[in-house]
Amino acid sequence: MLRRLAFIALGCASLTAGAREVDPESGFVIDEHWEVVKATCTACHSSRLVIGQRGSRDTWKGIIRWMQATQGLWQFQPEMEDQILTYLATNYPPGKAYRRKPLSPLLMPPD
Ligand code: HEC
Repeated sequence: MLRRLAFIALGCASLTAGAREVDPESGFVIDEHWEVVKATCTACHSSRLVIGQRGSRDTWKGIIRWMQATQGLWQFQPEMEDQILTYLATNYPPGKAYRRKPLSPLLMPPD
């Protein structure tokens, strides 16, 4: 019984992941403005550092401000910054879109 539930849970997780097309080179989700983000956000470090992060628009803005203040990141034109923030907050939002869904309580070991 447990095995069957695990199978169903994994099946759901892979269906969700399959809905998002990903750039094989960088791993970025392909969505509006992704090329701007790929070009801008891989100049200093791996795209993995970006993809591994999640955040609201404000969180992402904070990360950009932090890099601008301390890591030598240049200033963006407002329109371009808006595109980058929209892309990041849409595709890497807080608390969603992790590699798999949390396990069902039914699958958790007893306390
Ligand atoms: C001018 C160089 C530069 C560019 C361009 C740059 N970053 Fe960074 N970023 C850094 C440095 C340096 C670090 C710290 C790396 C480390 O800790 O190994 C960093 C770290 C990060 C982190 C990890 C923050 C943390 O809390 O650990 C994220 C997320 C991130 N960058 C996202 C971005 C995004 C999104 C963009 C594009 C808008 C971007 N970076 C462009 C220099 C840059």
